[in-house]
Amino acid sequence: MARVDGKLYGMDAVCAHMGCALLSEVKDHSTVCPAHEARYDVRSGQLLEPPKIKPEVPCEAEELRIPLRTYRVTERDGLLEVDL
Ligand code: FES
Repeated sequence: MARVDGKLYGMDAVCAHMGCALLSEVKDHSTVCPAHEARYDVRSGQLLEPPKIKPEVPCEAEELRIPLRTYRVTERDGLLEVDL
């Protein structure tokens, strides 16, 4: 889950490439996997940049299960509700 410009976004926080944890940092509506630098849009779960083994060699994207699932998140009385 991430809050960007006051709005909440829910997205699966497991990278589609090899399962590393996402959402440790969200900037400009995107998060980057720390393992191979795949970049995801937290609003849609879409892959913005494919994973890379080396910076100049993208991985095969057709094996990835994308987009990542996203969830509607609302805040009410200090509690977060996630539509599953
Ligand atoms: S595990 Fe996320 S890009 Fe490889």
